[in-house]
Amino acid sequence: MSIHIEAKQGQIADKILLPGDPLRAKFIAENFLEDAECFNTVRNMFGYTGTYKGHRVSVMGTGMGMPSISIYARELIVDYGVKKLIRVGTAGSINPDVHVRELVLAQAAATNSNIIRNDWPEYDLPQIADFALLDKAYHIAKELGMTTHVGNVLSSDIFYSNMAGRNIALGKLGVHAIEMEAAALYYLAAQHGVQALGIMTISDSLVNPEEDTTAEERQNTFTDMMKVGLETLIAE
Ligand code: HPA
Repeated sequence: MSIHIEAKQGQIADKILLPGDPLRAKFIAENFLEDAECFNTVRNMFGYTGTYKGHRVSVMGTGMGMPSISIYARELIVDYGVKKLIRVGTAGSINPDVHVRELVLAQAAATNSNIIRNDWPEYDLPQIADFALLDKAYHIAKELGMTTHVGNVLSSDIFYSNMAGRNIALGKLGVHAIEMEAAALYYLAAQHGVQALGIMTISDSLVNPEEDTTAEERQNTFTDMMKVGLETLIAE
């Protein structure tokens, strides 16, 4: 057991998919994994281990925001030996060329959080994805026919920001989308020498606010993203 996860040693696979929403973790376990068993119910942050195409994989919610994902990802890495972590989530587009339902692979994550600055006040330390995972995910997404953007995202501490204009201005520097977890996940992976990647589908656009999705469209995009995440996790 760790402080926030009640799994016994060995119950969590060394590869894990990390949606923000614990009910999405349950959905993935029920719809994509075989013989899935729940390993965590503490704080309803459900986690499951099963098999995908014969490979042992886990899936667990992280909650929203960098403090929450940092707690779970650190315990998964340090206390349970997880080596490959793929966040699967949603993001808001801040770039007119990035549209709802499209996929963003976070090659890097800028952040307004103190989570890195706290340790490295005099440095701007880029938070980057694991290249092997990024490369695999890109080719898998392309094979699935998904419109896929690769580049910077902004990991923000603030969903309801009073400075939305500044975030949107980052879109003009080529930052694709805003979300709330990738930078912290990448920093933890760097600290512990493990592999991490953030895959996001665009759920809303801050620059094309008229763009909208139906629940069914969101579900289909979500399903495609899960396939990219799972296929990337098991790729050799
Ligand atoms: N901001 C931050 N995180 C998000 C957004 C957003 O607009 N959309 C989805 N995740």
